[in-house]
Amino acid sequence: ASNNKFFVGGNWKSNGTKESIKDLVAGLNAADFDPKHVEVVVAPTFVHLDYVNSIIDKNKFAVSSQNIWIKGTGAFTGEIAAETLQDLGIHWVITGHSERRALCNETNDVVGLKTARALELGLNVIPCVGETLEQRQSGQIFSVLDAQMKALFDRQAFIAVKDWSKVVIAYEPVWAIGTGVVATPEQAQEVHAYLRKVLGNKLGAEVASSVRILYGGSVNDKNCEELAQKEDVDGFLVGGASLQAASFETIIKAHA
Ligand code: G3P
Repeated sequence: ASNNKFFVGGNWKSNGTKESIKDLVAGLNAADFDPKHVEVVVAPTFVHLDYVNSIIDKNKFAVSSQNIWIKGTGAFTGEIAAETLQDLGIHWVITGHSERRALCNETNDVVGLKTARALELGLNVIPCVGETLEQRQSGQIFSVLDAQMKALFDRQAFIAVKDWSKVVIAYEPVWAIGTGVVATPEQAQEVHAYLRKVLGNKLGAEVASSVRILYGGSVNDKNCEELAQKEDVDGFLVGGASLQAASFETIIKAHA
């Protein structure tokens, strides 16, 4: 890890009942870590956001949505605007998760729009990037990442960010998500260093070194420590293991 404040996100995806979430949050609230040294965000489903935000210990956790709409409030049936999140006191959003890219046809351009929209409204944002196995094996990994990053740079609201602690990039190789096949620390480091270089080319070295870059994909309580030691790994975005308070607590403390 770099000198940046460690960051751990828990992406609960489409999981949880009111009952299971109550238990999970109780476990999280009891977790023993120092929020001065690690920033922790959890992302429940839209319909659980308000409930989680009302019961979670806000000294230790912030709550994030997993998606937003590209525009504001209005005649957009079934969509959730950034303004609506703000009204609920939700200040984080994940954009461009690979499941949304793959299953909901979110293009790089849409992800760029959503990321910009979040920033325009003053939300903190976690844009996700990452290649499929096929793209990696056919040598397209860096061109895929370049295109995903370019869609962010194409938006004025992104390149005009003043406070880069509000932007946290998540590198999630698609082949590692939910598969149990975690990237090796070396594979993660290689891509994180590359993403930092791409950020640097566009935004300057100072910004690039301060932007936190998370690794996501089959992170668990066993593999987190080794990954966290890598220079450019500033934290994690965790799926499955974030649904177990004990595992998630271990991951939160992986930087120590
Ligand atoms: O956003 C986190 C994610 O996609 C990783 O999921 O279950 O492999 O930790 P998982």
